[in-house]
Amino acid sequence: LDNGLALTPTMGWLHWERFMCNIDCDNDPDNCISERLYMQMADVMVKEGWKEAGYEYVCIDDCWPSHQRDAQGRLQADPKRFPGGIKKLADYVHSKGLKLGIYADVGENTCARYPGSLGYYEIDAQTFADWDVDLLKFDGCFLNWTLLGEGYINMSKALNKTGKSIVYSCEWPLYEWSFHQPNYTAIRETCNHWRNHNDVSDSWDSIKSILEWTASHQDIIVPSAGPGGWNDPDMLVIGNFGLSHDQQESQMALWAIMAAPLFMSNDLRDICPRSKALLQNKHIIKINQDPLGKQGYRTAKMNHFEVWEKPLSNNSLAVAVMNLQDTGGPRKFPIVIVPGWKVCDPKCNITQILPQYKEMGVQTIQSDIVFSVNPTGTTLLTITPIKGNNRHFHK
Ligand code: DGJ
Repeated sequence: LDNGLALTPTMGWLHWERFMCNIDCDNDPDNCISERLYMQMADVMVKEGWKEAGYEYVCIDDCWPSHQRDAQGRLQADPKRFPGGIKKLADYVHSKGLKLGIYADVGENTCARYPGSLGYYEIDAQTFADWDVDLLKFDGCFLNWTLLGEGYINMSKALNKTGKSIVYSCEWPLYEWSFHQPNYTAIRETCNHWRNHNDVSDSWDSIKSILEWTASHQDIIVPSAGPGGWNDPDMLVIGNFGLSHDQQESQMALWAIMAAPLFMSNDLRDICPRSKALLQNKHIIKINQDPLGKQGYRTAKMNHFEVWEKPLSNNSLAVAVMNLQDTGGPRKFPIVIVPGWKVCDPKCNITQILPQYKEMGVQTIQSDIVFSVNPTGTTLLTITPIKGNNRHFHK
C-alpha cells in the first residue's frame, strides 16, 4: 500500500499468541487483556532496549472492546479492563516514543465474537484516527469470502480518508486461500502487510509448517513483497515455552530472510537473556530491514537441509542453512552447495551471524568452508561480493 508507511517490515509486539483472549482480570491481573498490559510492555520496551533495537509498535489484538457499540455506533473499549480508554493509552504509548496498534474485523464479528466492523468501516476508521492509533490489524472472520476483497479495500479507503498515518495489516489472503488463489496485486495495493497462512503457535511444528507453506507458494507470493507491502508469516514466538534455542534461532533467521514484519508475542517483562539477545541481534534485524526490501526464498533442499537466500543492497546476499533433521547431532554442510555461492567468484567477504558472530574474511570460489549445523538449527551468513576485474579481461 502506497501510504508512505512500512517501507521496511514493521517491528513491534502483538499480544495474541502469548496472551490470547484472557479477559479474567480478577484472577489473572498481570496477564489479562487490559490497558495495564500494554502500558507495562511499553515501559519495558523503552527500558530494556527493545525500542532502540527497532521494535516500535505496541499492538492490541482481539478481545479489547466492549460487546456493545456506544450510542453513536462507535466501538468502545471494555470499560472495566480499559478504564482510561484507548485515546489515553495511545497518549501514554506515544509519550514513550512508541506507537499503538489496534484490532478489528472485516466481518460481522471478530473471531472471538466481539463486534465486527461490517457496516461501520468509516465510523471505525474515524474512531481509530480520533484515538490517534497508528496501526490497524484487520481480521477476516464472519464474512462471506466473496466479500473479503471489497471489505478490505473499503476499509483501506476509509483509513486513507481520515488523513492519519495508519499502518494497515490485513488477513485477506489467509481467508481467501481456502476458496481460490488471491489476487496479490490487489492485496499489495490495499495493505501494508498481509497474513497468508495459519496462526503461529508456540511449537516447532508450527514454525516448520509456516516455512513449508511459504516455500511452496514462493513463486506466487515473493514477487508481491517490497517497500510498503509485505507477506506476514505471523508472530515471533521466541522467548516463550515451545522452541529450543536452536529453533528460536531458526525462527529469527528465517523471518529475517522472509522480510517478515517482526511482531513478538511474548512476555517482555519476563524473558530469558538468550532469547532477548537473539530478538535484539542487530545483524539479523539489519537483514530483515534491508532497504532493498526483497523477500528471500528457498533456493535448495536436500538431505534434510534447506538453503534460503535473500538479496540485500550492495549486491550482498543473506544465506540461511537450516538443518531439518531432528535426530542425531550437528551435521556438516559445505558452502559450495549454496546456489548463491557464485557471488564469491572471484572473491567475497563472508560474515557468519548465527549461531555466533564471526567475520570470516575474504574468500574465493575455491575456499572449502564447511559449516556444522545443529538439529533444527540454522547457520546465518551474509556474503558480499568483492569486485575483481581479472576474469573479465582474459580474452
Ligand atoms: C485469527 C487471527 O489470524 C489471529 O492472529 C488472531 O487475531 C485471532 N484471529 C484473534 O481472534
